Amino acid sequence: MTTFEQAWQLASSIEGWLTESQGRALFEAGGQLAPGTVAVEIGSHRGKSAVLIGLGLPSNGRLLAVDPFDDPRWGGGAESLEMFRTALEVAGVTDRVDLYRGLSEEASATWNGPLVGFLWVDGAHDRISTLKDFDGWMPHMAIGGLIYVHDAFSAVGTTRAVLERFLFSRHVVYEGCERTMVKFRVGTASPMVRLLSALRLLRRLGFFSRMVAIKVARRRGLHAWERRFMRVENEPLI
Ligand SMILES: C[S@@+](CC[C@H](N)C(=O)[O-])C[C@H]1O[C@@H](n2cnc3c(N)ncnc32)[C@H](O)[C@@H]1O
Repeated sequence: MTTFEQAWQLASSIEGWLTESQGRALFEAGGQLAPGTVAVEIGSHRGKSAVLIGLGLPSNGRLLAVDPFDDPRWGGGAESLEMFRTALEVAGVTDRVDLYRGLSEEASATWNGPLVGFLWVDGAHDRISTLKDFDGWMPHMAIGGLIYVHDAFSAVGTTRAVLERFLFSRHVVYEGCERTMVKFRVGTASPMVRLLSALRLLRRLGFFSRMVAIKVARRRGLHAWERRFMRVENEPLI
């Protein structure tokens, strides 16, 4: 069995945008995959998160990795696809990861496999794409399944989509976060659970304001302000 430390050693040599604690959360979520369900990743890039989830999966677990590998905004394209394949091979997870080369909305519209026990949303970070990710995959989610979203409370579009769909949701409850990775669980929520979930999500708006302030200061070259908003030196925006 692979430990998280071994998985992180492999994954940290792959280009991507994950902190170690986010990597651990993905590895552990893969490990908790309920029997009979699959994990789905929206946005694979060079395989960093796919390797972590893949190595965490139980022995018969499977991951569907969805990425068109043609989006220049994220360094996508044939080169990334090759690196993704190599990363899976080096980690020894090729036999448990299936690739859907296309958009999340196309994959969810045609999905007729098992229910999804873990959905990892890390594709395009604009509001419309993220809403399509949620709306396309929600009907396939297993009760008790996990939904993790990256760059929530950092990217404005992702944050808006998260709040629009999950702030007062009857079916999705906030579970916590690892910086910009926000974690939800699917299940019917009582009014009290919904209220607590909403309040905990709203508390993240302070963190969100700080991330946006750092980004704006950085873009305008206001380095003194950038440092003022940071809690630690070189604080990551992920
Ligand atoms: C931030 S990167 C993913 C990083 C990856 N999860 C990791 O940890 O290394 C975003 C990826 O999403 C892909 N992408 C963008 N829009 C997408 C969509 N609608 N469906 C699936 N993938 C998408 C891009 O091609 C890009 O490779």
